[in-house]
Amino acid sequence: MKDVYILGIESSCDETSVSIVKNGCDEINTVILSQIDIHTLYGGVVPEIASRNHVKDITFVIDKCLRDSGIEMDMIDAVAVTYGPGLIGSLLVGLEAAKTIAYVYDKPLIPVHHIAGHIYANNIGHELKFPLLSLVISGGHTELIKMDDHLSFLKIGGTLDDAVGECYDKVARVVGIGYPGGPLVDKLAHTGNVSYHLPIPMNDDSYNFSFSGLKSAVINLVHNEEQRGNVINKEDLCASFQDVVVKSLVGKTVKALKEYNINNLIVAGGVAANKGIRDAFEKESLINEFSFSFPDMKYCTDNATMIAACGYFLYKKGVRAGLDLNAKSSEKLF
Ligand code: KG4
Ligand code: ZN
Repeated sequence: MKDVYILGIESSCDETSVSIVKNGCDEINTVILSQIDIHTLYGGVVPEIASRNHVKDITFVIDKCLRDSGIEMDMIDAVAVTYGPGLIGSLLVGLEAAKTIAYVYDKPLIPVHHIAGHIYANNIGHELKFPLLSLVISGGHTELIKMDDHLSFLKIGGTLDDAVGECYDKVARVVGIGYPGGPLVDKLAHTGNVSYHLPIPMNDDSYNFSFSGLKSAVINLVHNEEQRGNVINKEDLCASFQDVVVKSLVGKTVKALKEYNINNLIVAGGVAANKGIRDAFEKESLINEFSFSFPDMKYCTDNATMIAACGYFLYKKGVRAGLDLNAKSSEKLF
């Protein structure tokens, strides 16, 4: 069977990334240009600055990815691009670049949903096994998704308010440890003890999550301690917060695996890089005998490798977009 090469483009937030992936599984080359140092100055992503930097960088990133890959444009079968959800100005830059390449080189254009891309980060290097349950945990999403086959997404639960990554970032800000919050909270959590009492959110029988109450509990705790003139132990607070997040995610996910009789669990999204969460699921997988896999660290946060990997399956399914494809700031996967 002929190999299929997909050129992927991702620019939904503050990473400009281009990748070439063979057969949805083998990464040929990926370039990621992160704007993290720029947005750190503002304590978070500034959409206008993000899109301006994508405009500045996109041509360089495409050129570098192709040049270093040794792959000629005529070997590329299709161009896959994130069309949403994400920051509208940022998405438009990658989308226009993808459309231009598709038009000039006469390649099919494949529209990729950003969250589907995160899930397919788990297909890089080792193929997905079905049926599976995917816990999507990112800056904008916290969802439990059942997949019986490629590209079949059934949501069985999700957050009713904040996403878990958003909560990590907010906690980091309140505790005063800077941006980006998630990795820093994760790091501190490993050096602290669980000593602050925080409630496990939505501790019920549903498969839904809620993180805004936990966020408020941390904010109130910090303010109360400050008013009493007490100094917060940042490591202990991060450890206590992470402990509650892990209990919430693990409790509901393991319950869903049992109820739906599924043996394969994957995690996806930026928060899947969290060591506390990975370790807890690995432990549970031994106790409850299910297979657990997660993407390599470099494929957890935004990258075009996952977009090209997902693009391959859409390409095989015959999904194509016209040159009128538009960016969507919010877009459902299901
Ligand atoms: O998937 P992603 O790169 O962007 C979205 O699609 O949202 O996820 C970014 C989120 C941020 O909230 C970031 O703080 C969080 O992932 N994150 C982490 C860790 N690494 C990144 N959260 C907790 N622990 C980590 N190690
Ligand atoms: Zn993402």
